[in-house]
Amino acid sequence: MDRFVRNFIIMSIVYLMIASVIGVLMALSPGFISLRYVHSHLMLLGWVTMMIYGVGYHILPRFAGRLIQQKTLCEFQFYLANVGLIGLVVFYTLALNSPEVSVYRTLAFVSAAAELISSLIFLYVMLKILLAREE
Ligand code: HEM
Ligand code: HEM
Repeated sequence: MDRFVRNFIIMSIVYLMIASVIGVLMALSPGFISLRYVHSHLMLLGWVTMMIYGVGYHILPRFAGRLIQQKTLCEFQFYLANVGLIGLVVFYTLALNSPEVSVYRTLAFVSAAAELISSLIFLYVMLKILLAREE
């Protein structure tokens, strides 16, 4: 198993744990509802998306009978997706709570762009695999 595959799967489960604790806290007390965006995006971009990246990178090339050639790019994507996600949930939530501080919005935007680039890397690597010519 490639290192980035293992890392994506481990971090996906870590985000599931953190987001579940936040979900339980929100269910417990309305005071935690300000963390809803953190919960929903740790679940969706963390647990769901990263599990799909990890499992997809492992299984889809094998279905197609090929190897991923851009492994360094996938390693880079792992770090970009994680830094982007943590930045996004932290700065977007800060921006919601302190709309007057414009730097939070800017940092949330930069983090969102990192998430977008990370998913474009997944698209690129997958297209290379799925559209490669038969030898
Ligand atoms: C331990 C399990 C979970 C608990 C206790 C939990 C709890 C909650 C709570 C209390 C809310 C806030 C609802 C409100 O706005 O009043 C919420 C929202 C949300 N949760 Fe969860 N959740 C759990 C698992 C999940 C999972 C597995 C996902 C997706 C993979 C998920 C996705 C979402 C989303 C997208 C929202 C925002 C929904 C909206 O704004 O309408 N949750 N959750
Ligand atoms: C580049 C990645 C993403 C960015 C920058 C992003 C950003 C946002 C923003 C700004 C909101 C509005 C939150 C608010 O009401 O204040 C939102 C809501 C939502 N997004 Fe995303 N999102 C991303 C990826 C995703 C993905 C991959 C999913 C599903 C698989 C998703 C599902 C949702 C849902 C269900 C809501 C409504 C629930 C909530 O408000 O928490 N998002 N997103």
